[in-house]
Amino acid sequence: MKSYYITTPIYYVNARPHLGHAYSTIVADTLKRFHRMLGEDARMQTGTDEHGDKIVKAADAAGQTPQEFVDGISSLFRNLWPQLNIENDGFIRTTDPEHKKAVQVLLQRLYDKGDIYYGEYGGHYCYGCERFYTEKELEDGLCPQHQTKPEYISEKNYFFKMSKYQEQLKQHILDNPDFIRPERYRNEVLAMLEGGVLEDLCISRPKSRLTWGIELPFDKDYVSYVWFDALANYITALDWPNNENDAAGKFQQYWPGEHLVAKDILKPHGIFWPTMLMAAGIPLYKHLNVHGYWLVKDTKMSKSLGNVVDPLKAAEHFGLDAFRYFLIREMNFGSDASYSAEAITTRVNADLANDLGNLFSRVLSMNAKYFGSKVPALGEPLEADDILCETTDNGAQNFVQLFGEMRFSQALEALWVPVRAMNKYVDEQAPWTLAKNGETERLGTVIRTLLENMYKVCYLLWPIMPNSSATMQAQLGRPQGELSEAALKDVINYRMHLRTGLEIASASNLFPRLEMPKEEEAPKPKKEKKAKEAPKQEAPAAPAEGAKPFIEFADFQKLDLRVGTILAAEQHPNADKLLRFDVDLGEEKPRQICSGIAAHFKPEDLVGAKVVVVANLPPRKLRGLESQGMILTAEFGDKLTLLTADAPSGSTIA
Ligand code: MSP
Repeated sequence: MKSYYITTPIYYVNARPHLGHAYSTIVADTLKRFHRMLGEDARMQTGTDEHGDKIVKAADAAGQTPQEFVDGISSLFRNLWPQLNIENDGFIRTTDPEHKKAVQVLLQRLYDKGDIYYGEYGGHYCYGCERFYTEKELEDGLCPQHQTKPEYISEKNYFFKMSKYQEQLKQHILDNPDFIRPERYRNEVLAMLEGGVLEDLCISRPKSRLTWGIELPFDKDYVSYVWFDALANYITALDWPNNENDAAGKFQQYWPGEHLVAKDILKPHGIFWPTMLMAAGIPLYKHLNVHGYWLVKDTKMSKSLGNVVDPLKAAEHFGLDAFRYFLIREMNFGSDASYSAEAITTRVNADLANDLGNLFSRVLSMNAKYFGSKVPALGEPLEADDILCETTDNGAQNFVQLFGEMRFSQALEALWVPVRAMNKYVDEQAPWTLAKNGETERLGTVIRTLLENMYKVCYLLWPIMPNSSATMQAQLGRPQGELSEAALKDVINYRMHLRTGLEIASASNLFPRLEMPKEEEAPKPKKEKKAKEAPKQEAPAAPAEGAKPFIEFADFQKLDLRVGTILAAEQHPNADKLLRFDVDLGEEKPRQICSGIAAHFKPEDLVGAKVVVVANLPPRKLRGLESQGMILTAEFGDKLTLLTADAPSGSTIA
């Protein structure tokens, strides 16, 4: 069985767990569950990082010994995870005796190899970051993270010859383009590696200054620098080095693994850790997956601002699965995202209460009304039924692919294409009319088609919303069984999963609508304010007759409209009405877009045109080719023109 190992950072115990910690750990949990769904032997690891100056200071301030202090906060983390339905297989503490011994083995190995040497060091030390800064790295003489003046310290210390592995690491990153992802973080690390010779890493602290750490095995007057100790957790948690050559041990089974971190700790993970592994002769991790920061209403979370979000309170308030869904859906992995009660309410009401919850509730209650809650038989399918099934199959496939590429938000977006299509199908097929007209067989087919497509979607939601997914599957009469590759393939590839005649749930109310928080609790995002400034009385009460209904400004803002240059255009190989384009949106690779405009244009006339593209539609297969966006056109009678803009590729349109 293929194995999969995902880690979170091990969190400092100088602060209580907050939204940021919860996000990384929930993502790791969904990844572990996703890989279990793929039939893999998946393991997830988290823990706490407990050594260093910061801890000693915090313990002092709390009037406790360091050990009492770390025990207290570490257990807050450990106890929180099950409450967020996180199934971590391991929880490591850097104060665990086994970890300490293993770190000493690692240090000794590098020392014996000649990769650790003793030398004099002077530098600007930030106690907040627990690291030295070079003159160059300071901003106006201040620590770039804390904006405080670091202390200049000069002392003898031990150093790891990081520079010795600089070229090898650079080559590895060049040879493995997704070693660090998303790409922007890979570029950042490459820039660090190309910006001159790396400074060797100071890996010790003299005991005269700090005793709360792991003693160096080759010098009793020193303890290890926290990062060296902390990074090693990823392998010591697998019982390294005891089982280094044991094929049946956890290390051989799960290493190399996947790391998940936020952008704040890119350098230790992108540079310190891989060079340490190279020096120790241990294979490098598979990927470093880097996410952005959660901001609270666009501001950094901080104790002094009093805006630190308690994840447990949020989960209790909004519902655990709704909270998990929001975090995974809202953050575009790699970029920062904004958290607010208003944002979560809007997202949960739209996607869960309206789209998914409403679908389950209306279909189950119609089935109760028309078929006594028994799964109806499928009659002869019509074209609309096939189209719906195809939409769901596409959505399911896109979801699995995008999730595997760490594009969580896009993956969920792709899965919501069938959810919305199902709601539309209900409206169009109007089961109530079929019932009124006595068309029972067709009515059964419509309801059965819906139930089958609903099953596919709720099965796939398990990694993100384990409880709700299990409940929805049970409501459809197919409680979740063993997870395996075959089971997943079955769900994706087949269209019939439910049992005709089986009595299933008659109602569903999984995602109640949330009440929008009061204005003062949740100020609107900046951009939205502008729209509000327009004097209210001047706005028409309703759009002109025949136009579409008004939408919220926030809905408009969701559109990612960009200028794209058509690089290539040709007839779609499988459809007369479609053209196939390669469009440059200023991204690394051009996008393939298929568009139903073949009747109006010759492909060769369009090459070089600068068109307007909707760039954030989920990818969709059109007659066998993936289309990664939509080209906008203007229609008047039977005339069609392309919407164009004279601006460089990738320009945003707002
Ligand atoms: N102890 C080190 C990590 C050692 S790993 C070998 C550390 N600890 S930390 O408590 O500061 O945790 C940092 C991590 O917490 C981030 O990389 C991220 O995973 C998470 N987050 C903390 N604040 C965050 C946000 N505001 N937003 C998203 N995640 C953030 O660094």
